[in-house]
Amino acid sequence: MSQTSDLLTPEPLRKLLANMQTLPSLPSVYRELMDVLHADDASVEQAARIISKDVGMVTKVLQVVNSPLYGLRGHVSNPTQAVALLGLNSLKSLALSTKVFAQFDQSKLPFFSLESLWQHGMTTAMHARAIAKEEDAEQAMVEDAFTAGLLHDVGTLVLASNLPHQYRDMLAIMQDQGLSEWVAEREVFGATHADVGGYLLGQWSLSHTIVEAVAYHHEPSSCPASYSIALAAVHVANAAEEEAQAMDMGEPVHLMDLDYLAGCGLADRLPLWQALCRGESVSRAGH
Ligand SMILES: [Fe+2]
Ligand SMILES: [Fe+2]
Repeated sequence: MSQTSDLLTPEPLRKLLANMQTLPSLPSVYRELMDVLHADDASVEQAARIISKDVGMVTKVLQVVNSPLYGLRGHVSNPTQAVALLGLNSLKSLALSTKVFAQFDQSKLPFFSLESLWQHGMTTAMHARAIAKEEDAEQAMVEDAFTAGLLHDVGTLVLASNLPHQYRDMLAIMQDQGLSEWVAEREVFGATHADVGGYLLGQWSLSHTIVEAVAYHHEPSSCPASYSIALAAVHVANAAEEEAQAMDMGEPVHLMDLDYLAGCGLADRLPLWQALCRGESVSRAGH
C-alpha cells in the first residue's frame, strides 16, 4: 500500500483492509494487452494471440460477442474476429475482469454464484456503455463506463472470500433488518464492497473515472468529484438490473439516486436510459 493512498484511505476502510489475507492481483494479461495497445503498430492479431493462450479467456470473449446483449446477428467462432469486433480497449477490460474473477474459488464462496456475479457485471457494463454512447460521451469515457461496469462489484468477492463469517452475519442483518447490502456492509465491516472495489482498482492505477464509478456506484451523490457520465451510467445500469431482479421476486425497490441525476441535469434522460437497460432500441430523435 503506498503512502499516498494510506493518507487518502478513510480509517474504517484501512482497518478493514488490514484484516484481509489476500487481495486479488492485477492480472499479467492486462499489462500485456496494455503494451499492445500502446504500441505504434497495435494489431488485433497480436491481441488475439495473447488471449488465445488462455482457453478460459477465449471462451469468455466468444461468449460476450455472441450474447444477445451484444446485438450481433451472426455467430462468431473465431477469436481474432471476436477481438476485432470488441476492440482492443474492451478486450483489455474483459480480460481484466475475467482474470480477476478467476482468482476466486467458488467452493470458498457459498453465498453467491461467481458466474452470476460475472454476468451481472457484464450486463451492467454493456448497459453503462450504451448509456454513455447515447449521451455522446468521448470514447475514453465510454470505455471507462464499460470497465467500471464489469468490475463494479469486485469488492463483494474480496469481502466474502476474506471474511466469510462476517459476510454471513452481514447477509443475516441485511435480511432481518431489510437493509440495502451496502448499508449492512457498512454496519458490519465499517466500509462497503464499493469502497473496497474502488480502493483495489486505485491500487492497480486504473483511471480516476473508473475508480470513482466503482467506489460510488450505489451512492453517486457522495462522490466528492464533479459529475461523470461513467458514474451516472454505472449507477443507473446497476440499479436498473437490481430493481428488475427485485421486481421479479415481488419485492419492488427504488435504487436510483434521483438527487444525483437531477443535480447533474440528467433527470429527464432517466426514462430513456432505463429503456436502454431493458434492451429496448432507442430512437435518437430529439437528442
Ligand atoms: Fe454493488
Ligand atoms: Fe451490482
